[in-house]
Amino acid sequence: GGRQLGNGHSQGSALQFFGQAKKRINDIFKEIGEYIVETDKFVDDVMLSGQDIISQECCRVVKGFNERVNGIMEILARDRMKVAFFGRTSNGKSTVINAMLRDKIMPSGIGHTTHCFIQVEGTDSSEGFLLTEGSDQPQSIGSIKQLAHNLSSVKLEENSLVRILWPKSKCRLLKEDVVFVDSPGIDVTQELDSWIDKYCLDADVFVLVGNAESTLMQTEKNFFHKVSARLSKPNIFILQNRWDVSVLEEDADDVRKQHSDRNLQFLIDELKVVDKKEAEDRLYFISAREALVSRLHQDKGTPTPTGSLQEGFQIRMFEFANFERKFEECISKSAVQTKFEQHTARGKSITSEVRGVMENTYTRSLELTEEQLSLRREKNDELDYLGKQLKLLTQEVKDKIRSMVEDVERKVASALND
Ligand code: GTP
Ligand code: MG
Repeated sequence: GGRQLGNGHSQGSALQFFGQAKKRINDIFKEIGEYIVETDKFVDDVMLSGQDIISQECCRVVKGFNERVNGIMEILARDRMKVAFFGRTSNGKSTVINAMLRDKIMPSGIGHTTHCFIQVEGTDSSEGFLLTEGSDQPQSIGSIKQLAHNLSSVKLEENSLVRILWPKSKCRLLKEDVVFVDSPGIDVTQELDSWIDKYCLDADVFVLVGNAESTLMQTEKNFFHKVSARLSKPNIFILQNRWDVSVLEEDADDVRKQHSDRNLQFLIDELKVVDKKEAEDRLYFISAREALVSRLHQDKGTPTPTGSLQEGFQIRMFEFANFERKFEECISKSAVQTKFEQHTARGKSITSEVRGVMENTYTRSLELTEEQLSLRREKNDELDYLGKQLKLLTQEVKDKIRSMVEDVERKVASALND
């Protein structure tokens, strides 16, 4: 499947890698499931034959496989790519997400705006809606301001989650199974540790939204030190946002160099999550506001009003698009690895356990055939029937093992290699 991954030219191709891999592994588990059902039936038949070939224990084990395969397929169906945004308050986290989604979904504004965690994910329904923790009652999208805005009078807990279910038809990234998580500013909370436990451990990519007008601060660094202590080599992107403002300053080039040096040093030497070469793809100087404004107008087919874009905005838009491309490559690859590797390992262990059961059955039935044959010399006629039955059974077991185990193992191995 790596073929598709290298092709980052056409929009969305990198993200589709995840969907393709998901479909493929799902198909394999469907087949494994079918083999398990067959095996189960076979084992039942052998038990019914009354011969002492398969132990109760084996029988129970085979029955358990069914449940395990179903469980894996359920998790698989829920597997998505998750990106979480962090940064100090007002740096533009919510605006970056809106720009990526090409819609004003997240509340944004000056001051401390986002008060709790907000997750945006795709839905097949044509209208968007909200879900809050502990309730499956859908609420209207309009109530997001009341629920998640810091200025609202009735607020949710800081580390609680509002889920926005947004129509997949309106956004490519959601259609391709990306889930976005927006957070309150890391400088206005005491709850960093619980945040990490609750929202970070299954994230495939982290985006640190920095403010190009100030430098990377200790709160931001601390947070990512904590994250990388819990996760091995988290994928971190750094966006130096509001570059439209800073670039107007006289010494913008020097500032850019300073930000670059500090950010790269942080990723490479402090966190040690990337090497020098990889780090180049992890830092971008952007303006989320310009990206959002121009995309909204572009999608509506109206010209972007002059004045909402600063001089040299094309370069920042280009960097934003570049970020998105690298982000898509990174998140799909990482999600396939971390999520599907576990499933593949479990699939392999199930097929090899089935193989064990079948091989035992085969060996045991061979032994029995031998026993019966020697008995038969003495009690010829009586056992004729049983002997024949066992021979048939033995042949059947042999065929089963060949077709089932080899087929499944070949498929799983080739999927793993891909
Ligand atoms: P909290 O939710 O409070 O943590 O803030 P946030 O990080 O989500 O920031 P938000 O997206 O709400 O943006 C804060 C303010 O900055 C808003 O008024 C945005 O319009 C503005 N803003 C965001 N990105 C940019 C940018 O690139 N350039 C400029 N000039 N303003 C921006
Ligand atoms: Mg916000």
